[in-house]
Amino acid sequence: MSTKRSTNPRPAGPVTTAPENLRITVFGTGYLGATHAVAMAELGFDVVGVDVDQAKVDALAAGKVPFFEPGLPELLEKTLATGRLRFTTDAASAVAGADVHFVCVGTPQQRTSHAANLAYVEDATRVIAQHLTKDAVIVGKSTVPVGTAARLRELVAATVPAGIDAELLWNPEFLREGKAVGDTLHPDRIVLGGVSERSEAVMRAVYAAPIAEGSPVVVTDLPTAELVKVSANAFLATKISFINAIAGVCEAAGADVTVLADALGHDVRIGRQFLDAGLGFGGGCLPKDIRALMHRSKELGANRAAALLQQVDEINMGQRERVVDMALEACGGSVLNKRIGVLGAAFKPLTDDVRDSPALNVAAALHLRGAQVTVYDPEAGDTARRAFPTLGYGTSVDEAVEECDVLLVLTEWKQFVDADPQRLAGLTRTPRVSTRAASSRPTSGVRPAGSSPDWAASRPDDPDRRVVASPAGPSRARALQPRA
Ligand SMILES: NC(=O)c1ccc[n+]([C@@H]2O[C@H](COP(=O)([O-])OP(=O)(O)OC[C@H]3O[C@@H](n4cnc5c(N)ncnc54)[C@H](O)[C@@H]3O)[C@@H](O)[C@H]2O)c1
Repeated sequence: MSTKRSTNPRPAGPVTTAPENLRITVFGTGYLGATHAVAMAELGFDVVGVDVDQAKVDALAAGKVPFFEPGLPELLEKTLATGRLRFTTDAASAVAGADVHFVCVGTPQQRTSHAANLAYVEDATRVIAQHLTKDAVIVGKSTVPVGTAARLRELVAATVPAGIDAELLWNPEFLREGKAVGDTLHPDRIVLGGVSERSEAVMRAVYAAPIAEGSPVVVTDLPTAELVKVSANAFLATKISFINAIAGVCEAAGADVTVLADALGHDVRIGRQFLDAGLGFGGGCLPKDIRALMHRSKELGANRAAALLQQVDEINMGQRERVVDMALEACGGSVLNKRIGVLGAAFKPLTDDVRDSPALNVAAALHLRGAQVTVYDPEAGDTARRAFPTLGYGTSVDEAVEECDVLLVLTEWKQFVDADPQRLAGLTRTPRVSTRAASSRPTSGVRPAGSSPDWAASRPDDPDRRVVASPAGPSRARALQPRA
């Protein structure tokens, strides 16, 4: 285990409970909070998950995870059965008697600016502080702009009942949807910002199991902890937009961006992950986090960071337009009354999260241009229907593909990647796979959201154009012969 310390900004704080008796609340039981609450119970603590959404609380209390996350339903069932985990909307009763309060509520993008909406974080922190009946540690896990935690400390100081000592620190979360359970129980790092000696001891007790396994602990100040999280997301987003920009150069120069990425990835300083040219990033984190960082950087006068992130965002959004253009080209310039099959709605595989989903963005853009769009996703059908009720939804791959003029594979679910393009082509209106554009160069540089499969794109001059995008790798697609 490696441990780094830069500062210890506060004197020893509260909490005298023995580590094994720590009682925990988790405010916000969405993708982050539900997973965190279950994981804390799995680690042996008494946990109450608190949310303002009664339906979510009822579902979790009944053992139903209201979203798709592999492994979480089983762990929820197991931890509920121990009696150590419960869920409530009654914040006052949850807070009373607990020692550690995690703030896991949402920080979405504001409707009218790129800044993060901090209203939920402020509300949850205020509610925790005002209901405290004993000394406690308040732990921020939500992703927030740098400077937020310092302001929340003032809010806590102004709200907490007299005689109660409440200490606020920041412990950003790095879990990935689709791998959230493993990431929470076995974090690749634990960042603790703004701890005192006492609250550091409390956090080390909370994370005793992963620390014993070797998870590195980074102890730092509040602003660094806040910035670690958004910088990590900004770096990943930059890597994706970098390869998508280079894909444009490859296309112009006749180079193969996939081989290029493989070759780049052999360099351990670069690495292969997040170097798949494609539809770009989406979801509930990366887009809003880079925008919030852009906004905050400008406020702080760090204009170069803001300019860099602006480019990253523009390149990313441009990828969605390119796929729309590909579909238009494949249909001879207009998709009006064309049938378009879309495989994928989630922003990446292994989740049902459709927040800022590139796949649905493309589907909706084509629908707006008059296409009849049928979307299929193995898990995100319901969330997609709620977000985009006017699109058509199929209940199987075949239903989305049947009789379509153009098929777009936009989320990299394994079943789409493994699908046989020749069989799919047989279901389309004209049963042909365009092979001419399935060169060893994925000339579009565009792939399903997420990462790896190559897919073939038909060219507008191709008389056989029907399946504009297939999940087949270029070599596999090239082997297919058009069926007249
Ligand atoms: N989803 C991820 O993969 C992930 C990973 C790391 C960090 N984060 C960060 O975690 C935070 C939460 O993200 P999420 O994806 O879980 O969001 P989410 O929208 O799924 O969940 C947020 C939950 O907070 C609840 N809530 C709002 N106000 C509340 C209040 N005052 N008291 C109690 N509950 C309240 C909402 O009802 C909702 O259930 C965000 O800051 C996000 O950036 C998310």
